[in-house]
Amino acid sequence: MPLALITGASRGIGRELALALAQRGYDLLLVARSADQLQAVAQEAQALHQRQAAVLALDLTHPEAAATVASWAAHHAPEGLAVLVNNAGYGLWGRFEQLNLEEQLNMLQLNLNLPVQLTYALLPLLRRAARSYVLNVASTAAYQAVPSLTLYAASKAFLLSFSRGLRYELKGSGVSVTCLSPGATTTDFGNRAGMGTELQAVANKVSMTAAQVAAAGLKALFAGRAEVIPGVLNKVTAGLTSVVPKPIVEKIAAGIYEKYL
Ligand SMILES: NC(=O)c1ccc[n+]([C@@H]2O[C@H](COP(=O)([O-])OP(=O)(O)OC[C@H]3O[C@@H](n4cnc5c(N)ncnc54)[C@H](OP(=O)(O)O)[C@@H]3O)[C@@H](O)[C@H]2O)c1
Repeated sequence: MPLALITGASRGIGRELALALAQRGYDLLLVARSADQLQAVAQEAQALHQRQAAVLALDLTHPEAAATVASWAAHHAPEGLAVLVNNAGYGLWGRFEQLNLEEQLNMLQLNLNLPVQLTYALLPLLRRAARSYVLNVASTAAYQAVPSLTLYAASKAFLLSFSRGLRYELKGSGVSVTCLSPGATTTDFGNRAGMGTELQAVANKVSMTAAQVAAAGLKALFAGRAEVIPGVLNKVTAGLTSVVPKPIVEKIAAGIYEKYL
């Protein structure tokens, strides 16, 4: 069976991507910190879709994380890896100067360095499969600066640019790269980012479900598309950022996110 490796697979968008990949016939390699939640996803993949899943409970911000995941993946997928999903990530809500620097650097390690390190380490295995796919989970925040989510938005802009550049370099190699940029999605993201209940309530009004986001992401991935923004509202909003002057876009974003600080 073809194998798919998903980071941040214990809950939220990663969990839904894992189960949707199982439904499409992939066996799973699941990585996150929470062993119990990973086991629960593995059991669901088996019960619902009769697919096997191996789990690795690991803090992906550890300096050796990418090497550890890569050797674990090589052990499970000697004939090649069909799908790599770089999904694990989180945001930190607050002004750059007021947030703890170490925490912000930890976020960058997970959101940006880890996908680079893991993709680099796994490309030989991805090339070994007849056809393979990389899905990088960015955000609509990749398309604009977002005051009070400044470094988070910057990390996702990096991921979008990285995805597009790598995709071009890999043309004709059999490895396709897609960037999935969700807007607000009902997961633990807001809590982890330290967003207050008022801001989360605003986000909830326009949120998609993680299952909807996962379905849109996989449809684009297997169609070989470069980018996908799930949801009409998110598509329109992200599209406007390329035509509306940046100071106006930033003022609107600040009006939403800074207002509740
Ligand atoms: N929800 C949104 O509104 C939204 C919008 C746009 C983009 N996104 C992006 O979607 C991706 C998934 O987030 P989500 O919304 O599904 O949030 P979530 O429910 O908080 O899930 C985050 C996942 O990342 C894992 N993770 C976090 N820190 C980790 C670490 N140090 N080592 C290993 N795994 C770690 C978590 O597992 P453990 O805690 O078990 O380690 C969990 O599986 C992120 O990249 C996020 O930026 C989310």
